[in-house]
Amino acid sequence: MSDLKSGGFHHIPVLFNEAIDSLDIKPGGIYVDCTAGGGGHSGEIAKRLKGGMLISIDRDPQAIANLTNRFSGVECVRLVHNNFFNIKDILADLGIAAVDGVLADLGVSSHQLDEPSRGFSFHNEAPLDMRMSLEGMSAEQAVNTLSQAELRKIIYDYGEEKFAPSIAKAIVAARELAPIKTTLELSEIIKSAMPAAARRDGHPARRTFQAIRIYVNGELDGLDTAVHNMFDCLKPGGRVSVITFHSLEDRIVKREFASLAKGCTCPKNFPVCICGNKPQANVLKAVAPSAKEVEENPRSRSARLRTAEKI
Ligand SMILES: C[S@@+](CC[C@H](N)C(=O)[O-])C[C@H]1O[C@@H](n2cnc3c(N)ncnc32)[C@H](O)[C@@H]1O
Ligand SMILES: [Zn+2]
Repeated sequence: MSDLKSGGFHHIPVLFNEAIDSLDIKPGGIYVDCTAGGGGHSGEIAKRLKGGMLISIDRDPQAIANLTNRFSGVECVRLVHNNFFNIKDILADLGIAAVDGVLADLGVSSHQLDEPSRGFSFHNEAPLDMRMSLEGMSAEQAVNTLSQAELRKIIYDYGEEKFAPSIAKAIVAARELAPIKTTLELSEIIKSAMPAAARRDGHPARRTFQAIRIYVNGELDGLDTAVHNMFDCLKPGGRVSVITFHSLEDRIVKREFASLAKGCTCPKNFPVCICGNKPQANVLKAVAPSAKEVEENPRSRSARLRTAEKI
């Protein structure tokens, strides 16, 4: 797989061919790439269009600046700097009523992870930022202002980190001495709060960094509604595909697709359906990366691609 470099911005797309195939692209269709990032998926979708249109969204202004260069002169691409959770408003502003396909490749890009100044990585010393949009509460503000109970819950829920109580306690103790400012400072505090045996299980800060990133970017708050909204924007026969990177995200997408496939919203204990809602979606089989892809790009390890087609 090629590392898509352009203008210093790079991202190794995960489940690339699988995601493109899942959209079943029609040359004259309208498509939305909700998480354009380095433009890998967008570039391939645009290549397949003839008379169609691609709306490429990203909340990261650096990604949009790079994509503006990359797609200058590519007529079919419209770039939108926004949160794709607003997909309905974004399409309404463009005067588009319904689309043929929607792709969301969730999480952070390799560029965001590898660019030390963004503060996502526990491998590089950098200010604790972690904001994809460069707006709102930063990771630094989060670790220095949230209560110990809030930190514990975030680290436990979003990081699935069993040492959340001692990590939250260590963060609060450390910031009482001096504000926590950098990625490596935080990483050291996390490490100090974990038993030596647990430190051997991957990088000790990985789960806590994931948790704080998810919190700061509101990645899971409203993802269920966003999945519904992406589906609502489809024409009949249109498809929505979502690539997730951890089980928390995947569970939400799986559950939302299942409820669209079921249609009926009656409580489980009703003997018969009284809501009359019919199934709206055919859900395709989930796709995981091949052993070869995981070997070439370890970041793809826990990725899943899920697709729903509107009936
Ligand atoms: C995994 S990368 C996508 C990479 C892209 N598919 C490619 O081929 O280069 C995720 C991108 O989605 C963006 N992103 C994440 N959540 C978003 C949201 N809610 N709204 C808009 N963009 C988002 C991030 O800023 C990042 O650039
Ligand atoms: Zn019902």
